[in-house]
Amino acid sequence: MAYEVHPLTEGFGAEVIGLNLAAEMTPEEFAEVRDLYFGKSVVVFRGQELAPDAQAAFSRRFGGLMIHVLTQFQIPGHPEVLELSNRLDADGNAIGFEDAGRYWHSDISYNTEPALGTMLYAVDIPPEGGDTFFADMAAAYDALPEDVKQKIEGRGAYHSYTINYKSNESDAATRPDLTEEQLASLEDVLHPIVRTHEDTGRKALFVNPGFTYRVDGMDKGESDALLQMLFAHTQEERFLYRHVWRPHDLLCWDNRSTMHHATVYDAQYTRHMHRTTIQGPRPV
Ligand code: SIN
Repeated sequence: MAYEVHPLTEGFGAEVIGLNLAAEMTPEEFAEVRDLYFGKSVVVFRGQELAPDAQAAFSRRFGGLMIHVLTQFQIPGHPEVLELSNRLDADGNAIGFEDAGRYWHSDISYNTEPALGTMLYAVDIPPEGGDTFFADMAAAYDALPEDVKQKIEGRGAYHSYTINYKSNESDAATRPDLTEEQLASLEDVLHPIVRTHEDTGRKALFVNPGFTYRVDGMDKGESDALLQMLFAHTQEERFLYRHVWRPHDLLCWDNRSTMHHATVYDAQYTRHMHRTTIQGPRPV
């Protein structure tokens, strides 16, 4: 299995060229890919030809797949593959989640057992715009002053899907209302602010502006100040990577050690992606 690996930044991220993920892989070959993925946190596999079944099969090698709460955007017959798309069906209805993740977040951090990783396959991308930013949350943790590390050690913070669901004007206009059933499946959860990665042993910050809203055991003022400071720190340029998509990229990120942010694009263009989400453990 010969392929090239290139770094995406000085710290995290890797680009893989010449590896066909739809082909058979021995357990040893898979272990090499897995180590690269978890070690580098964000890996782009260029030039893939991945039908939804093949993407789901590759993703499933890392763990069970999660079904997103917005079940109306599943690919028919593939409940574990979510469409992120601005395409419309013949009746003019959205076939996919159009504006997913346009804020900093770690996928499904609002669940008791959040997503371990996410794999996004670029079927159709705009000629410009629609890039995805990533923040290296392990490097951000390492760079914190000692007194801040002490302050957050052993502390938890609450995460919620609904807190920001329609918090800005464009989300309020475009996002579908959550059904009673979808709302009933969502409960706020408490996670450690600092989590330890199960595979690498590295500590990383596990708070994000999209879903984290309150530090446990602090009043609102103190909690807001701490979270705003951590959010600003993690978004410093030195911790970021900007992914400029190419058609047929499979981009895999580790939600335990990164957060990410999708960006807008001109609506005259199509952006059509297939997303699979891997079940993770309860953060510790
Ligand atoms: C997401 O948060 O899953 C969306 C990322 C993207 O569309 O770039």
